[in-house]
Amino acid sequence: MSILFHENTQTFHLTNGQISYLMKVLPDGSLGQLYFGRAIRDRESFDHLLEMHPRPMSACVFEGDKRFSLEHCLQEYPVYGTTDFRRPAVELVQPNGSRIASFVYQSHTVTPGKPGLAGLPATYCEEAGEGETLTVCLRDPLLKVSLLLSYTLFRDLPALARSARLVNEGGQDLHLTTAMSLSLDLPDSGYELIHFSGAWSRERHMKVRRLEQGIQSVESTRGHSSHSHNPFIMLRRPGTGEDSGEVMGFSLLYSGNFLARAEVDPWDTTRVTLGINPFGFDWKLAPGESFQTPEAVVVWSGQGMGDMSRAFHRLYRTRLARGQWRDRPRPILINNWEATYFDFTEDKLVAIARAAREDGVELFVLDDGWFGARCSDSAGLGDWTPNPDRLPGGVTRLAERIEALGMQFGLWFEPEMVNRDSQLFRAHPDWVLQTPGRRASLGRNQLVLDFSRTEVVDNIYEQMSKILSQAKVSYVKWDMNRSMTEVYSAALPPDRQGEVMHRYILGVYDLYDRLTRRFPHILFESCASGGGRFDPGMLYYAPQCWTSDDSDGVERQKIQYGTSFCYPLSSIGAHVSAVPNHQVNRLTPLSTRANVAAFGTFGYELDLNRLTPEERAQVREQIAFMKEYRQVIQFGDFYRLLSPFEGNFTAWMVVSPDRRTALVGWYKVLNEVNGPYRRVRLRGLDPSLRYTVDGGSEHFGDELMEVGLLTTDSAAGERQPDEPPARDFDSHIFVLKA
Ligand code: DGJ
Repeated sequence: MSILFHENTQTFHLTNGQISYLMKVLPDGSLGQLYFGRAIRDRESFDHLLEMHPRPMSACVFEGDKRFSLEHCLQEYPVYGTTDFRRPAVELVQPNGSRIASFVYQSHTVTPGKPGLAGLPATYCEEAGEGETLTVCLRDPLLKVSLLLSYTLFRDLPALARSARLVNEGGQDLHLTTAMSLSLDLPDSGYELIHFSGAWSRERHMKVRRLEQGIQSVESTRGHSSHSHNPFIMLRRPGTGEDSGEVMGFSLLYSGNFLARAEVDPWDTTRVTLGINPFGFDWKLAPGESFQTPEAVVVWSGQGMGDMSRAFHRLYRTRLARGQWRDRPRPILINNWEATYFDFTEDKLVAIARAAREDGVELFVLDDGWFGARCSDSAGLGDWTPNPDRLPGGVTRLAERIEALGMQFGLWFEPEMVNRDSQLFRAHPDWVLQTPGRRASLGRNQLVLDFSRTEVVDNIYEQMSKILSQAKVSYVKWDMNRSMTEVYSAALPPDRQGEVMHRYILGVYDLYDRLTRRFPHILFESCASGGGRFDPGMLYYAPQCWTSDDSDGVERQKIQYGTSFCYPLSSIGAHVSAVPNHQVNRLTPLSTRANVAAFGTFGYELDLNRLTPEERAQVREQIAFMKEYRQVIQFGDFYRLLSPFEGNFTAWMVVSPDRRTALVGWYKVLNEVNGPYRRVRLRGLDPSLRYTVDGGSEHFGDELMEVGLLTTDSAAGERQPDEPPARDFDSHIFVLKA
């Protein structure tokens, strides 16, 4: 791995044998982009890649030189209006009203490892040799603003982490209205753009479209990364599949408003920009102040989307997630939400836990409704003290009773929210986001606490810490159930109101940081009405996330498949829930619900007391299966085989690092009459090893990968004697052992 700088040609070459990233100081001193892709040999000069031709209608930087226009250069961190007309990476509004800036190369440093980003989530190196960081310092001499562009190249991954920092070293107030984490210019537009979009209960559905001249983007304006779009996009060459072809993934480590944009100009070059959404963003940069953007990660693969995903999985599982739970198989949990909603007593909860314990569940999670005046969703948020009517012995006694069953205890919070009907709101009505003189719109009957204020974060931290230190709590589910409206902070002056949404997210990160430091043994699971904040920012603090409120065995195939493009299975919270399903009213077999949930962090979201003895026996088998294989599932290599977005069948698999164990999840939506013979070609096996399938037939890895595994009516092997023949929503997990 090396970060090279060729003094004579002012060229940077970042390469680790897998990828090369080339940049060059341009004639005006700004930083240009030359190449990003498969690793290439180094040379002193790549200047020929800087194609400069005079073109009509171009504005040119230097008098007398019709060839040099920024409009026709690939750039690293572009500004608008100094001969480039595309959307910029940075924009600074100055006291005289000008928005023009110009950043000129000053110096650079190369350091081993990777420095952290204060107050923000970031990937990291555990040992200095795992990565190397280049920081390029540029400066606008007129504004006296320094721009520090940071690039970390990871030794073993085709991945680059980027961020930018702006420092106002001058004497005037500036307003930063755009500060992107990553801008990357590509020399052509022969790509498909893929994004993961949806809504509550149908998160991260895969959308594919051809890049065209013009701007195409996804974003969030909701204050959280959102169900609507995910801060992750891919560009792939047409024809790229799971196993072959060129693809780039762009991921933003941020949980608030983001923008992911691809702009194709009239000459078919493509500019990808990723960062905090400039819409509504206005950060005052007073003299001496600096602004750090969130981090963005870009992964390149020449071996298809599967390879790209596995690089993200590895990076995010091992060098973004942190803490005691990072490398540990996750406990099998039962959550009472869909079993009881708000209707529970301490005894009822213990009865649910006891049944679960009998079947092998390890962790009981008490969801919403245990605190304050919370008997419905219209009261109590903000008051994190146990409700004495429901929990006469407090959380402490309930936790003791759960522990006495031989289980661990987990607790739900929604720290960022408040109901008007709460002691907290009555005491501090100005602690919410609301615009003076205007209505404060409610979402789920609640208001959003102003987490841009330290005293608000302090209060919630104290309340949560008290409960978490009094009761034996091993797990926290951190929920967030509404988007932000009428955003305004009573604590900030008028010229800083454009900072509120970002400061809010910094407040969320601050609270997470304090709690995870103080309670390092607690496993945190993030949640936002299901997957409304499933992003890498959250994964830095909470290694797993409740993927969606939709736990239907069919719907979840798309949701988990889409989520897997960027996020590792160890982060994908997946539970078995009751039928008829509470979201879509569908009846699916218990086996299928479990076979889908198995590919994530597994649990139950129902009252097992309501199941038949036969179903309970199935549950016991499912739990035993998960205990045997969760290490492989959560920490092995994941391969997508058949896409639920393309047909009636879904298949995916995990392979253990030593390639001796593999699990293949196979799912059918509707049953077929007299259907075709079907095979699914497996991936990631050792071609020369002989595998048993479900302890029966034996096949070499190459046969399973090239010819395929026969799946015609494959659910037959799993059918219980009293179950009907092949049916709708069937599924099977094939166990392969070398
Ligand atoms: C939304 C979450 O996604 C659910 O799992 C549950 O915790 C409810 N909130 C509780 O209000």
